[in-house]
Amino acid sequence: MKKGIALLLAACMALSACGAAGRSETGETARIEQSQEVETQTGENRDGERTSGETAERAPGQEQETEKILIAYFTWADNTQVEDPSAVDVDATTSASVLPPGNTAKLAEWIQERVGGDLFSIVTEEPYSSDYDQCLERAADEKAEDARPALTGRVEHMEQYDTVFLGYPNWWYTVPMPVLTFLEAYDFSGKTVVPFCAHGTGGLAGSVEAIEDALPESARLLEPVGVYRPDVDFAQPVIDQWLDGLGYGAESAEGQVP
Ligand SMILES: Cc1cc2nc3c(=O)[nH]c(=O)nc-3n(C[C@H](O)[C@H](O)[C@H](O)COP(=O)(O)O)c2cc1C
Repeated sequence: MKKGIALLLAACMALSACGAAGRSETGETARIEQSQEVETQTGENRDGERTSGETAERAPGQEQETEKILIAYFTWADNTQVEDPSAVDVDATTSASVLPPGNTAKLAEWIQERVGGDLFSIVTEEPYSSDYDQCLERAADEKAEDARPALTGRVEHMEQYDTVFLGYPNWWYTVPMPVLTFLEAYDFSGKTVVPFCAHGTGGLAGSVEAIEDALPESARLLEPVGVYRPDVDFAQPVIDQWLDGLGYGAESAEGQVP
């Protein structure tokens, strides 16, 4: 039996309110993707178990003194080398994310602003090409081979973290394979994992299922958020409302808890 995704009506409502908050300068409404796992707004997971109490128990500020949070993310910009940054046309849709901060990194920083915690960038030993087509090709090969690209660095004392926010771009309808390397490198038993995704027109696609499959039964997966690439720069309110829905209200930021 797979783990259920904890869904809160409040979280769903927060997300549905995000369209207006996430409007871009061009007037486009932010496309906030909810997980395809969303089956009900009544707080049942896919196995029909009640889960609505799980995050509701997280009274604002209550767990904050003990809850230790890691925000781990993979982003193309941290996994490539650009020889001449000044030559990158940041307006081009395909090259927008090769220069730091990458889209996923921006979301990660906003999450940290709200919930505190430690940031960790997932970086492969072998950088990806900064050429979009070449990066696409390698990512496709890695997906086809179910590869686990080697990573540089490790999270120190992963056992201290209760909650891991896990960020990634949608690559080929799922997570980049280094995200699976990351998930398999640590014991996530008993931890809460909260996915967040920057994506193109494909939304979250199969990414949450891939994460779920890589986690042990005892890990708890909370409702993910996805932000459409052109809306990332305007998405801080969207992230805040998503976090509100998960029980991480504004008062949960580190340093604001009495
Ligand atoms: C190798 C590669 C594969 C991608 N595949 C998809 C995809 O299948 N669906 C989608 O919606 N977006 C896809 N994208 C677009 C990224 O998800 C999107 O640009 C994201 O915002 C990049 O985030 P980042 O700057 O953190 O890397 C792909 C991008 C790359 C580089």
